[in-house]
Amino acid sequence: MEFLSNKPLLITDTILRDAHQSQAATRMTIEDMMPALEVLDSIGYYSLECWGGATFDSCMRFLNEDPWERLRKLKRGLPNTKLQMLFRGQNILGYKHYADDVVDAFCRKSIENGIDIIRIFDALNDVRNLEQAIKSTKKYGGQVEATLSYTISPIHNEAYFVKLAKELEQMGADTICVKDMANLLLPMDAYSLIKALKESVSVPIHLHTHNTTGTGDMTYLMAAYAGVDIVDTALSPLANGTAQPATESLVATLGGTVRDTGLDLNKMSEAAVHFRKIAQRLKEAGSLDPKVLNVDTNTLLYQVPGGMLSNLISQLKQAGKEDKYYDVLAEIPRVRQDFGYPPLVTPSSQIVGTQAVMNIIMGERYKVFPKESKAMLKGEYGSLPGKVNEEVRAKAGIAPEDVITCRPADLLSPELDKYREEFKDIAKSDEDVLSLALFPQVAPKFLDRRDHPEKYEEAAASAAAPAAPAKVADPNAVHELNVQVAPNVLANL
Ligand code: CO
Repeated sequence: MEFLSNKPLLITDTILRDAHQSQAATRMTIEDMMPALEVLDSIGYYSLECWGGATFDSCMRFLNEDPWERLRKLKRGLPNTKLQMLFRGQNILGYKHYADDVVDAFCRKSIENGIDIIRIFDALNDVRNLEQAIKSTKKYGGQVEATLSYTISPIHNEAYFVKLAKELEQMGADTICVKDMANLLLPMDAYSLIKALKESVSVPIHLHTHNTTGTGDMTYLMAAYAGVDIVDTALSPLANGTAQPATESLVATLGGTVRDTGLDLNKMSEAAVHFRKIAQRLKEAGSLDPKVLNVDTNTLLYQVPGGMLSNLISQLKQAGKEDKYYDVLAEIPRVRQDFGYPPLVTPSSQIVGTQAVMNIIMGERYKVFPKESKAMLKGEYGSLPGKVNEEVRAKAGIAPEDVITCRPADLLSPELDKYREEFKDIAKSDEDVLSLALFPQVAPKFLDRRDHPEKYEEAAASAAAPAAPAKVADPNAVHELNVQVAPNVLANL
């Protein structure tokens, strides 16, 4: 078999972001990272993914860390490597749409504090939700990695993704990422998709997958054959399972071929010695459950992300309806079809999953609509990829003329000054204002603790005692998106 490219394969290591987000509920601290930065910086990675995603929330909520300060420390410790972050389009890092001026300010502050590459995605692949973040990233000198959220459905075929990639290239993408968050992209399909993308766009293609279903390494190898430019892997101590395939394994596999990464396994081994200790600490703290390393074959069967299945089981348990598991599994594709085939990623995975649970346990389809379902059907998250079932939309009480067809953020007036005013007593900087705007439930407590440590001395003393094992959070679960109706209705059943 021949490689369709003869360039070295470039590697983004996710050890500082997605690896511990996926395996250990995003609990790695900056102190865990600092001792390894020098060796990480010497390896020669294309980039290190180290910020954004759930790290921002987790810093403030669980680790008593200022996420902006973390970024500045990473920048100082990694002067030779590009720093990369994950950014959810118009949602930024939160779970609702923000006005354009907030998106702009967040891009600006991310870049000013050290980010080089911003990977921008939208759960529905509505490119209008990427527009502002792309514009702002370019304006402040950052590199735009525009993203396809990969999924499988009757409308999400290769032609769909090629068309989308061309659009993103025209919008100014410097690189294009294929984000396979649920590890649905099988090796042979990866070969075909990457080949098609390379033939259709001229910017580099970056592939992101996980090893949840056990196919990740093979997917990367086939993608390497097809000419993918960059892939995301994680150093071995936190690789595989729900995280990325291991960096070292791929580097060794390609050694001596035309796609040899040129990276030094000895340096990686040195970094791995450190992160093995961190992985051990996370296991002992209860943040890393070794179960996440198992191969999840259910995802191969049902094409439903692993995290969504565990959410579903816990919702059914709550209602005492665990026997309905397979009925709900069968209902998910039907709801997804009615909703116009949204990719199953946060927040659409929770919305479709909860609606399917409601449809089954109420004994009647669409008797109840959680408010997030209504918002999605109304177009508040952006336009749905396929045709929505109009009967279902009418049942949700949404008249055709109420459906939002413009870019959702066009309905939002500027918000930044309003946030500055609202938080003027507790914010010490625009960075703080952004933390507060995105996480209004979490940031005030964190800032109070940061700025008035004396009030927390007693609490700090008791925290020094051995901590109770942290509950292992589902990596795909969201903290703030409570699909509203479900818990109440569930509790009443
Ligand atoms: Co990921």
